[in-house]
Amino acid sequence: MKFFIDTANLAQIKEAQDMGVLDGVTTNPSLMAKEGIKGQNNILKHYVDICNIVTGDVSAEVISTDFDGMVKEGEALAELHERIVVKIPMIKDGVKAIKYFTEKGIKTNCTLVFSAGQALLAAKAGATYMSPFIGRLDDVSTDGLRLIEDIRLIYDNYGFETQILAASVRHPMHIIECARIGADVITAPLSAISALLKHPLTDSGLAQFLADAKK
Ligand code: E4P
Repeated sequence: MKFFIDTANLAQIKEAQDMGVLDGVTTNPSLMAKEGIKGQNNILKHYVDICNIVTGDVSAEVISTDFDGMVKEGEALAELHERIVVKIPMIKDGVKAIKYFTEKGIKTNCTLVFSAGQALLAAKAGATYMSPFIGRLDDVSTDGLRLIEDIRLIYDNYGFETQILAASVRHPMHIIECARIGADVITAPLSAISALLKHPLTDSGLAQFLADAKK
């Protein structure tokens, strides 16, 4: 299972990379805005800065919603760095753009997926990654993890190679359940990844060992 960090914050990306468990990064326009990255040149430079920290794939999202616009933007993003994955929304022109990039050998991440039907379309178009937003589904009283289970079954039925990238992950149990179900990738904030470290018996056990070592 791959671990991606879901942020555009360079310090957090470095921290996760230094831990040695990071396989990639996902960003979106909201995460870029949160870091105060404004203007096309600064945005493109920030993607390169991220690519220079990590050794895995970095998703950079297009903001066009028409085919020609997505192709133009996506090609410019893909030229920035070999690790850039073009992130494209699950809309009709987005599906066409994913197919286009797949045929050109450019990696894609189909984002804003909320149903098994959308996941099927993303796989048919050849998306490298497909991102169901489990936290946002939970927010509207729909079981996000159940969607991951459904998509896993569907993809395995037909041997689709598109990787299930569980997104909108909010807490460590989301990560553990995604691992149990068989998501290929999770993308999570540093807080959720770091929370996997925590167990009170680890803390008390370590304290005891260190105390005994002094005896
Ligand atoms: C990642 O690809 C998504 O954009 C992100 O996980 C969305 O997370 P949110 O629902 O916490 O905004």
